[in-house]
Amino acid sequence: MTSALFSPIALRGLTLPNRIVVSPMCQYNSDDGSANDWHLMHLGGFSLGAAGLVMTEMTNVNAVGRITHRCAGLWSDANEAALKRVHDFCRAYGVAKLGVQLAHAGRKGSTQVPAAGGKPLTAEQKAWQTEAPSAVPYDQGWSVPHALTKGDIQRLVGDFAASARRVDRIGYDLIELHGGHGYLLHQFMSPLSNQRTDEYGGSTANRIRFPLEVFAAVRAAFSADKPVGIRVSATDWVDGGWTLEETVVLAHALKEAGCDYMDVSTGGLDPRQKIPLAPGYQVPFGETVRKETGIKTMSVGLITGARQAEDIIASGGADFVVLGRGIMYDPRWAWHAAEELGAETAYAPKMMACHPKMRPQVFPSRQAPATWSRTGAAGATEL
Ligand SMILES: Cc1cc2nc3c(=O)[nH]c(=O)nc-3n(C[C@H](O)[C@H](O)[C@H](O)COP(=O)(O)O)c2cc1C
Repeated sequence: MTSALFSPIALRGLTLPNRIVVSPMCQYNSDDGSANDWHLMHLGGFSLGAAGLVMTEMTNVNAVGRITHRCAGLWSDANEAALKRVHDFCRAYGVAKLGVQLAHAGRKGSTQVPAAGGKPLTAEQKAWQTEAPSAVPYDQGWSVPHALTKGDIQRLVGDFAASARRVDRIGYDLIELHGGHGYLLHQFMSPLSNQRTDEYGGSTANRIRFPLEVFAAVRAAFSADKPVGIRVSATDWVDGGWTLEETVVLAHALKEAGCDYMDVSTGGLDPRQKIPLAPGYQVPFGETVRKETGIKTMSVGLITGARQAEDIIASGGADFVVLGRGIMYDPRWAWHAAEELGAETAYAPKMMACHPKMRPQVFPSRQAPATWSRTGAAGATEL
């Protein structure tokens, strides 16, 4: 049987062996933005072959853009060296391709880590002044962000480009911009958070101006053969907010600008949102974007089953499925999905002994079976 989920796909100069992506997931464990041993375990584990592409958590382009004091960043040489250590570790032992999600939290910054309650920081907890398109707080009790001046906006475009250069220098395969979940880029897009009267506010064309400027700067800063994509929220799930129709307008403009894919999520901008959660509930949004614009799409949100994922890809619902909690629960999800679908997927060399085809042997042989390369169990170069 041929599996759509395990069919290769190219994004610019990057060929991915399957359609499975490990979603970016904040770890709230960085030191002044720098990755540490936790990230070796977290990302290193996923890189062993559970998906074609493994994304870092939301990695912020400056310190003010963090959600919490413990969020990841890529604004300093120390941050770059720390992330390079993690990248090199994943490359040395793993087989997955590796991407970084670049972000700025805007008005959703300066909070406690979720495990401590996730509330806005107090002065004693070293709160900082957040920044956003307009001086509109996320919710009652949240601090009022500084409304960005045009000079600030240009500084931020430069920060995104500088972080993209660091990602390139480290050697990552791909960059994704975080344009969803109510963070800074999304705050510019939505009329609920963007009440500007200059060329960055008002019409859809004006509200997508900043994300497009950031995209262009990051695209120019990153190696031309490597893909740059964006995660967006296709709706705010609140009347008067950002819509699917506007997402399609944005997708057309980004595709024109050379964007390689759109990862379509929803929500996160406004606490009044009412989300009808159900398995694969965000797939129809991405499917509309894909069909109306022809841009490659990723679908995320409550995708947990192998057959469910296979159907999404085979039916044209998306080009990729992105898994968060499901693959955190089962980091070997792709191996198990491959077995269920009768497909092959890559195993890191040191993990080959656990491949089901090896189990009939009482004692694992140090020699890969002769059929190995024909069956496509990539990575079987060393046992
Ligand atoms: C612990 C945790 C951290 C997350 N951090 C990020 C993040 O850094 N960037 C992002 O775009 N989404 C983040 N998300 C959202 C996930 O990437 C994903 O979109 C969401 O969990 C829905 O997918 P799932 O149902 O497969 O978990 C996070 C989710 C979780 C559970």
